[in-house]
Amino acid sequence: MVVLTVRSAHKRRYFVLFLTIAGFIIFRHMGTQRGRVQVVRRVGLSVNSSQFNLEGEPFRILGGSVHYFRVPRAYWKDRLMKMKACGINTLTTYVPWSLHEPERGSFQFRGQLDLEAFLQLAEELGLWVILRPGPYVCSELDLGGLPSWLLRDEQMKVRTTYPGFTEAVNVFFNKLIPKVVPFQFKKGGPIIAVQVENEYGSFAEDANYMPFIKEALESRGISELLLTCDNHDGLMNGGLSGVLRTINFQKLNHNDIKQLEAVQPKSPTLVMEYWTGWFDGWGDLHHVFPAEDMIAVVREILRRGMSINLYMFHGGTNFGFMNGAADNPSYKPLITSYDYDAPLSEAGDYTPKYHLLRDLFSHYQSVKLPDMPVLHAKDRYEAAIMFQHLSLWDVLPFTHTPFKTQTPVNMENLPVNNGNGQSYGYTLYETTITSGGSLRSGNNVRDRALVFVDRSFIGVFEFKTLELAVPDGKGERTLSLLVENCGRVNYGKALDSQRKGLVGDILLNNSPLRNFVIRSLDLTPSFIESLYRAPWKSLPHKPSFPGFFLGRMFVNGYPSDTFIKLPGWSKGVVFINGQNLGRYWHIGPQQTLYLPGPFLNSGINEVIVFEETEADYKVHFEDTPDLGMTVDVQ
Ligand code: GLA
Repeated sequence: MVVLTVRSAHKRRYFVLFLTIAGFIIFRHMGTQRGRVQVVRRVGLSVNSSQFNLEGEPFRILGGSVHYFRVPRAYWKDRLMKMKACGINTLTTYVPWSLHEPERGSFQFRGQLDLEAFLQLAEELGLWVILRPGPYVCSELDLGGLPSWLLRDEQMKVRTTYPGFTEAVNVFFNKLIPKVVPFQFKKGGPIIAVQVENEYGSFAEDANYMPFIKEALESRGISELLLTCDNHDGLMNGGLSGVLRTINFQKLNHNDIKQLEAVQPKSPTLVMEYWTGWFDGWGDLHHVFPAEDMIAVVREILRRGMSINLYMFHGGTNFGFMNGAADNPSYKPLITSYDYDAPLSEAGDYTPKYHLLRDLFSHYQSVKLPDMPVLHAKDRYEAAIMFQHLSLWDVLPFTHTPFKTQTPVNMENLPVNNGNGQSYGYTLYETTITSGGSLRSGNNVRDRALVFVDRSFIGVFEFKTLELAVPDGKGERTLSLLVENCGRVNYGKALDSQRKGLVGDILLNNSPLRNFVIRSLDLTPSFIESLYRAPWKSLPHKPSFPGFFLGRMFVNGYPSDTFIKLPGWSKGVVFINGQNLGRYWHIGPQQTLYLPGPFLNSGINEVIVFEETEADYKVHFEDTPDLGMTVDVQ
């Protein structure tokens, strides 16, 4: 320690002043962000030879994707430490606009969506970051991560320079980008590269769009290496001048790699998305990609000197209603689990892929890999017995104010949520009919509707069921359609037509129905909370469906992870302590829902199930997941 003695008071004052000014200058130069000291570095990740360079040294990206919004925050550290222990040096994550700006101009960056905390954690653990801020991200998210309120505009053309889209992007980026700028490498942070949009080559609707996004990033202070990524379909049309092109695939496609190397001969090759597994749709089998096949390709990628990012390293869960849908060859909503058959399972367990990768990556490290963190316990809990019930019709007073309209209005254009429409969940459309006959959906039901006459169930409209018979009856009767948004398509050219609810006329005996009363049931946490004031009744012998079922589960001691199983139930949504865990559906493939320990209390936990058609009144909690019968990815 240096002890300074300044004798005269005069000199002491000057000395204090000198220290204050010097301190201020040093502090300004370093800058601080959320308590972190920023070091200034001059050169970031560079690509001027056939390899990457970082901090003046050759650098190979061994990356892995983990999405903060798909992993309970309490487990972020666990998952990232497991990533480190696997030999991965770079974390990659998307930023889901739809979750961060659920209503236009109203932003959420706290708790589960605290991106800055996630970046900070990566930094603390010594992981570099490649940030993928979209604004479109695909990622099996509803509308590819775009907010559904964009679709209120009938003329909307997402992923183009249509002013209604670019203006909204600008507002979002004005909020987002300043948050991430201080985390860039040259400012002392972990972000070594930023991706411009996502696989635009396979969309390619507007030549001015990618330059707009690039400029939108740069003008707001993004100064690290920029990159684009494309899959086989978009490789030819992808890319942007002055931006590194990268490639996405699962099986080695030598032609694609050659093609990429031909357009960028003096650049390193990065497989931005090496698909370690795949996602599942409802009614499908569970996709798996054999570990031996995966490791053979990863080994070859590394042998060729290429860099790689594992998409996903750990998939996590589509909690709530965040899942997207596929539309090729036809519409198919995606399941709640985003396990992805990734190296780390949905619940954070090591898989054979993890061990193979760790072994392989250990040969590419100069130091010994950290020990593998211990696993979290999984528990089987006593089943919760549902003892209270509310029918759908009982909860109507707790929904938004009903909206009356001559013709049907789609979800996004309903006058709810401060003028942002309804994004997710169910919408009830009701009108009066005076006859029976043939009811036709005209393919205007998005995506599925349970249909009732005077509250008696008469059938389901789906993409394949376009006609139902309405039984004859006397006088005026109420026809109700409970329409569910099962997930908006997240990939392909059909993004602008992803409006949900009723998107056109429903015909009864060829006449369009009129005079609707519409209620939004977006099943938000605040709606579920409001149900505590609802007139719950003891479970009747024959409860009516759809309905809400309430029970309690008891956790003795510290809560562990568990897996919810609902044998005898059909289709619905599970809420634990008010938190939406996501949808279940007996058609599978997934047979259990992941319930992370941090969502549980020690002691009593409230379980609410919204079930559409039939129930067994018992919710089971198993200690192992069941994602269904498997099929190899083709
Ligand atoms: C593409 C997208 C990702 C994801 C994968 C499939 O590569 O870029 O967001 O949708 O496909 O999982």
